[in-house]
Amino acid sequence: VIDIRKLYGQADVFTYDPGFTSTASCQSAITYIDGEAGILLHRGYPIDQLAENSTFMEVSYLLLNGELPNRAELEKFTHTITRHTMLHEQLATFYRGFRRDAHPMAIMCGVVGALSAFYHDSTDITDPEQRMIASHRLIAKMPTIAAMAYKYSIGQPFLYPQNNLSYTGNFLRMTFGVPAEPYEVNPIIERAMRRIFILHADHEQNASTSTVRLAGSSGANPFACIAAGIACLWGPAHGGANEAALNMLREIGRPEHIPEYIARAKDKDDPFRLMGFGHRVYKNFDPRAKVMKATADEVLKELNIVDPVLDVAKELEQIALHDDYFIEKKLYPNVDFYSGVILSAIGFPTSMFTALFALARTVGWVAQWNEMIADPDQKIGRPRQLYTGATQRDYVPVDQR
Ligand code: ACO
Repeated sequence: VIDIRKLYGQADVFTYDPGFTSTASCQSAITYIDGEAGILLHRGYPIDQLAENSTFMEVSYLLLNGELPNRAELEKFTHTITRHTMLHEQLATFYRGFRRDAHPMAIMCGVVGALSAFYHDSTDITDPEQRMIASHRLIAKMPTIAAMAYKYSIGQPFLYPQNNLSYTGNFLRMTFGVPAEPYEVNPIIERAMRRIFILHADHEQNASTSTVRLAGSSGANPFACIAAGIACLWGPAHGGANEAALNMLREIGRPEHIPEYIARAKDKDDPFRLMGFGHRVYKNFDPRAKVMKATADEVLKELNIVDPVLDVAKELEQIALHDDYFIEKKLYPNVDFYSGVILSAIGFPTSMFTALFALARTVGWVAQWNEMIADPDQKIGRPRQLYTGATQRDYVPVDQR
């Protein structure tokens, strides 16, 4: 029998909390979630108000600085971000080292990590000014990085940022534009993308944000920390769910196939889950899903697209909302349930969905990373464990085993 008090030394009480379902890892003043009531606030502002009225630059400024900017502050911030959108030309060579069919998230992980080799003037994390420059660089370069990953995957030349466009418009042009041909940003698509970016900007201590904080808690390079966040986001239980949700909806294909999938989701012996359903914190409607659903309706209508996948999604939601299993387990559509329908209508391949999530979430990651480094109580993150292995024993030479 192992005496746990001897093993764990100084502390008297340890909590064993797999998945951190009830452990706060930090204090934060950035994002508030009430999962029972379906409320999400950034610095106190409700997400639906921000998604409806603000720009992504305003929300980025808010998350980073704590207040909405006045006009002069917004112009200065927008100018700063615009000034940092270019990537070092050598990074184009870095992209060419990837297989052409590499997943955009694999490329983004690599490229963002590689940025740490380029910016030695913004890596002294004890200097708040340097931290802010690193944050601005990350927010500014992410659309360029994501668009280049897409262009590389389809074999088209990279497009440089065009800085008279909005953050979202610039990203759309770098993604869908072609060199030497004018690209007109469609305002309906631009508005939808802006909303999608805002809805994904931050979500307190989710898995990828906690990863960024944990990596950053050792004093690691900020670009490397964000690369760690991208790696975590990639998984299908987190950011990868938007890709998985659309694939699932396409596989269902027609409303009459829905009961079969609902039955599979309820079957204990089947590992299948309804992708885009359920959330660790929301035990009521995800408020982001509401805005996303309305945006899906709007985009498809205004672009004159008839996509049976939207009908399947709506029908599935209705059936699940009235099904005892989903009611009892409080499973509702999450932010990823409808986003794929919109992104697909805009023309993104499913492999880009999580890359867009990473682009938008970068703002939250850098805001949380800054908050952590500035916190006087900040310590290296170092969870403990409950040891379940062998007790002490003597080494046995290889021929005697
Ligand atoms: N379909 C069917 N059953 C589900 C689903 C689902 N999507 N989600 C949870 N359940 C069931 C589980 O089987 C479990 O049942 P049990 O109590 O009988 O064992 C119960 O509900 C609780 O599920 P947990 O996995 O313990 O809940 P947790 O909080 O750990 O997981 C998660 C949350 C990962 C989001 C989960 O709901 C899931 O896998 N959803 C599908 C993937 C998804 O959409 N992820 C995106 C999350 S949002 C985001 O990252 C932006």
